[in-house]
Amino acid sequence: MSVTGQPGAGAPIRKASIDLASTGAARGTDPLHSVPSDQATQIAAARIVGLYKDQPGALLPILHAIQHELGCIPPETVQVVADALNRSRAEVHGVITFYPHFRSKPAGRHVVEICRAEACQSRGGEQLADHARKQLGCDFHETSADGAVTLEPVYCLGLCAQSPSVMIDGQPHARVTTEKFNRLMQGVQS
Ligand code: FES
Repeated sequence: MSVTGQPGAGAPIRKASIDLASTGAARGTDPLHSVPSDQATQIAAARIVGLYKDQPGALLPILHAIQHELGCIPPETVQVVADALNRSRAEVHGVITFYPHFRSKPAGRHVVEICRAEACQSRGGEQLADHARKQLGCDFHETSADGAVTLEPVYCLGLCAQSPSVMIDGQPHARVTTEKFNRLMQGVQS
């Protein structure tokens, strides 16, 4: 998922080789959407922290890696990260809440990001956002009641000349009208 426009948030991620199944963390078949126990989550976070903590600017790579492996940054991992980096819990929490990319709860099966930056806003982005909220029955940073779709804002996808634009499960789409949005959603939900 993109965090375009947010300085520093796009730090490269070194994939952490964490075997959630061996920790008992994984439940179900998709680790991105499973809900590990608090203890298993903390063990996974500690392993990820161990991979990055000695490198400069370790916080963002750690947070990206935790979200990549666990599907979100569960609240119980915040203290693990803070302790390892000698920071306060509030500091780590502040970074997590600053970047819209990071989430504290697992996403739905699909993630729909709607561009909220200026070019898209001036070319129908607001109407598209209203339409998406209505269609999905949820607001930004929330997931539809059936758990299918999480709606997120994004700040420029590099498609300004073809706005308004959206990203669905990492795939960008340009010139998205409300009708096109409906068609795209039928595709992901079918
Ligand atoms: S402002 Fe939306 S893609 Fe650039």
